[in-house]
Amino acid sequence: MIRVLVTGGAGFIGSNIVDALIEDGNSVVVVDNLSTGKKENLNPKAKFYQVDIRDKGIEDIFKKEKPDYVCHQAAHLDVRESVRKPIWDAENNIIGSLNILENCVKYKVKKIVVASTGGAIYGDAKIIPTPENYLAAPISPYGVSKLSIEHYLHYYSKVFNLPYVALRYANVYGPRQDSKGEAGVIAIFTGKLLKGEEPLIFGKGRQTRDYVFVGDVARANVLALKNKKVGSYNVGTGVETSVNQIFRNLVKLTGASVKEKHIDAVLGEQKRSCLDASKIKKDFGWKVGVNFSEGLKKTVEWFKNNK
Ligand SMILES: NC(=O)c1ccc[n+]([C@@H]2O[C@H](COP(=O)([O-])OP(=O)(O)OC[C@H]3O[C@@H](n4cnc5c(N)ncnc54)[C@H](O)[C@@H]3O)[C@@H](O)[C@H]2O)c1
Repeated sequence: MIRVLVTGGAGFIGSNIVDALIEDGNSVVVVDNLSTGKKENLNPKAKFYQVDIRDKGIEDIFKKEKPDYVCHQAAHLDVRESVRKPIWDAENNIIGSLNILENCVKYKVKKIVVASTGGAIYGDAKIIPTPENYLAAPISPYGVSKLSIEHYLHYYSKVFNLPYVALRYANVYGPRQDSKGEAGVIAIFTGKLLKGEEPLIFGKGRQTRDYVFVGDVARANVLALKNKKVGSYNVGTGVETSVNQIFRNLVKLTGASVKEKHIDAVLGEQKRSCLDASKIKKDFGWKVGVNFSEGLKKTVEWFKNNK
């Protein structure tokens, strides 16, 4: 049994990680300010602190709970908002992360695993699926923040001997994703289709992403915490799916009778994103457990039962 502090543990991905850790017999402490997270996502076996990761009071939690490991998921992930408010983005995602890292060093945490991003770091990459050594050149404050955290992780590991793994997620989907948020086309479309509303497809709908099921992402976190290896790892399927494909599959699964409606493309929207996950397969033995059609079914089922 290990003792893990999970930041953002009331959120979509964080709460699925908490469940996986608890199922695995570990003890979990959750830190979350509930800005987008929800109390109903919280596993009752986890100890919960409603606090912001920027708060100085975070130190008291480290002092009291003495976590062996930290899994850092707390962040805002609104790319458009980060463009409008880069200082707010940096305060939440960089300064907040530094507060966590400083405490990891001070309280001798054995390893930290941090949620990073594939799509926002690589942008419209020329190599698809994109490997970790592809030049990271983000074009949003959100992507810049996530990449900065990876540089800080490298620094803290070299200078303070804090082992880390940064997991560069593809587009994560599955149970508990917010259907009202900006991110998550699958959640947004499912939410609308189940209400009989028409989702809007930007442009021709041929833009592709790599969709990875949240349970597989949770498993990647558990493996990364327990493994001694350090560095940045993609977590994706290597399969590209277009928005049109998602729409058509979800119409079938939900039985909705709506028309396919396209509106103007978003200026500068990334055309393709797909991650090469060979490194995490080789080093951690991770592989896709839930394929896309299975994952969509599980997601629609969850949304039907949690309307
Ligand atoms: N969803 C995706 O497709 C995706 C892709 C790449 C990376 N990520 C990363 O995964 C992580 C989890 O994302 P998610 O999809 O579960 O989103 P989410 O919004 O459901 O989860 C984020 C959680 O962090 C909490 N939080 C935010 N700011 C905080 C702060 N300042 N202090 C304390 N808690 C705070 C929120 O309340 C929420 O519970 C994030 O770091 C995100 O950047 C997500």
